[in-house]
Amino acid sequence: MSKNDLNLLYKGLLLPRIAHSEESLQYLENFQVKDDDVFAVTYPKSGTTWMQELLPPLLNGGDLTSVQTVPNWDRVPWLEETRAAALLDKMSSPRAIVSHMPYHFMPATFFKSKAKVIYIARNPKDVAVSSFHFHKMANFLADPGTFEDFIDGFLFGKNVFGKWTDHVKSWRNPELGDRILYITYEEMLEDLQSVLSRMLTFLGREISAEALDHVVSIGTFKNMKNNKMSNYSLVPEDLMDKKKTQFLRKGVSGDWKNHFSPKLDAKFTAVIQEEMKETNIRFPWDE
Ligand code: A3P
Repeated sequence: MSKNDLNLLYKGLLLPRIAHSEESLQYLENFQVKDDDVFAVTYPKSGTTWMQELLPPLLNGGDLTSVQTVPNWDRVPWLEETRAAALLDKMSSPRAIVSHMPYHFMPATFFKSKAKVIYIARNPKDVAVSSFHFHKMANFLADPGTFEDFIDGFLFGKNVFGKWTDHVKSWRNPELGDRILYITYEEMLEDLQSVLSRMLTFLGREISAEALDHVVSIGTFKNMKNNKMSNYSLVPEDLMDKKKTQFLRKGVSGDWKNHFSPKLDAKFTAVIQEEMKETNIRFPWDE
C-alpha cells in the first residue's frame, strides 16, 4: 500500500489512518478541556506508553488496578485518535490523556484552561531508531525503506507527525507558563523515582512512599514488557508483527550508535542544530 493510503493529511500534518479520521480530528477540535485534565505530550517513540503506565497511579493515590486490567490505549487515551470520543466523555476526573499533536493543534478550550501538561522529550536519534523499527513491525505504517531513507523522511518532515524539531519547539510556548513540566526519557531511565516525585509536586498530588515504590516497580522496562495490558501483545499479529520486533523493544538510551554511520550522524546533528539554533532549548544529549 502506498503512503497516501496509509496516512491522512490534517492541516499539513501526516497522520496514520489506522487511528485518525476526520471525525476523530473534529472531536479533538471541539474537545472540552477541563481544568483538572492532565496531558502527557510526546513526539511518537519518546515514552508515551511509559506515561500511560505511570500517570494513573500518580493521579489516584497509587491504585494500580487500571494498569493491571485496562489496555494502555483505553487507560490513558490519545486525544486525537478514533477511540477518544467513546472513552473521554465518560472518564472520571482527573482525566489523564496523551497526545502526539504539536501545540497549535490543541483544542481551543485547552488554551483557556488550566489543564496541566507533562512534555516528554527523547534524544531524536533514539526516537528515529525506535520509529524505524516500529515502522517495520506495524503493518499500518509505510515500509520505512533503508535506514538512510527513513532518516531523511524524519529530518525533513516527510514521516508521520512531521518534524521532531517542530514538535519540540511548538511546546516551548511561553504562554504555557507553569502549566507545563518538561522531562526527558533519559532522566526517567536514570532515576525514575525522582522524576515521579517531580511529577507529583507539579500535579499537586501525594502518594505514600510505599505506593511510589510500587509505581517505580511497575514502570520498569522488564515489568512493562510482562504486562499484557501495556506490551501490545493484545494487538493482532496482522497489525503488529511481534516476530520482527517487540513494541517495548530495547528501552535504552544510545541505541542510535548501533544504527548511524559517522556520515549520517554528522548530517543528522547538523540539521537538528540548524533548526534549534534560534532557540534557547538545550538538552542533555546536546553536550
Ligand atoms: P525503543 O524502541 O527504543 O525500545 P512510545 O511509547 O512513545 O511509542 O515509545 C516507545 C519507546 O519507549 C520504545 O523505545 C520503548 O521500548 C520505550 N519504553 C516504553 N516503556 C519503557 C520503560 N519502562 N523503560 C524504558 N523504555 C521504555
